[in-house]
Amino acid sequence: MPLTIRQLAPTFAAEIRGVDLRSTPSQQVLDEIYDTFLKYRVVVLPGQALSMEQHLDFGELFGPLHVLPTVKGMDLRIKNRAIDDVSNLASDGSLAGANSPKAFFALGNQLWHSDLSFCENPAHASMLHASEIAEEGGETQFCDLVAAYETLDEATKAQLAPLIAEHSLAHSRVRGGDSQADVEYLLKLRPPAMQPLVRTHPETGEKVLYIGAHVARIEGMEAEEGEALIQKLIDHATQSERVYTHRWAVNDLVIWDNRQTLHRGRPYDVDNVRRVMHRVTVDGDGPNVVEGKVIEPDVRRRDVRVPA
Ligand code: OGA
Ligand code: MN
Repeated sequence: MPLTIRQLAPTFAAEIRGVDLRSTPSQQVLDEIYDTFLKYRVVVLPGQALSMEQHLDFGELFGPLHVLPTVKGMDLRIKNRAIDDVSNLASDGSLAGANSPKAFFALGNQLWHSDLSFCENPAHASMLHASEIAEEGGETQFCDLVAAYETLDEATKAQLAPLIAEHSLAHSRVRGGDSQADVEYLLKLRPPAMQPLVRTHPETGEKVLYIGAHVARIEGMEAEEGEALIQKLIDHATQSERVYTHRWAVNDLVIWDNRQTLHRGRPYDVDNVRRVMHRVTVDGDGPNVVEGKVIEPDVRRRDVRVPA
């Protein structure tokens, strides 16, 4: 059966139908999904009734998976750290409650961000699968960072070209409202990383604005000036014509390219409504800044392969 692809927003995002990812796709179908992912940046695959094992297996077709560190004080419902438990449940499967460390930690997800941009090797793809959804709220929004870059004026492009930003998980958690955050601990768990503000996409060669809530400061700028610039750029990137809002259905699998989009979760009734999502994250292609110098990538599409 051929895949059908339907664009979802003016500049990006597509839905793919006609594939069941419970079994390994053919090489041709994998290539088609992967090319759609690179071209549209966000891909929605409805009706994927995946087990965690099948979700992990599909994720690995895109590349090595990111394994999360164990966070102190966090109730681990899912022991396999290649799966991020994006839910509001405690380890016993009951609602954790709006005052739980888990709910506080998750607040940062409601700010526009790119997953793992605080890592030296930040994320390639994230694959989020919906098991239980909120009827009201709980949407996930995406914005297009290629369109955001293209629509900057030339003077701004020139101003941004040489800039390097520090990305920090501790910073975004505190900004998100996690008043329980142990900043010292988070800085040790996830040491901040430097990223170019304008990044060349390592597979498409396109320029993208690489910004988001993890940006803690811009090198060579006063804190206030840096913050104002980042806020201005996020506002520009998230104008409505560059945003796709995903209203979830159970068994949607949404895949996004963290190198060319930002996303954020929208609020919902965390205290009373179960929202259960699992995320598998594919690692990127290595550091973007080494010893203060931006490493320009050797632009090349990843060779994604179905195992023989
Ligand atoms: C994520 C994330 C937002 C949401 O899984 O990386 O930011 O809507 N999720 O759950
Ligand atoms: Mn995220």
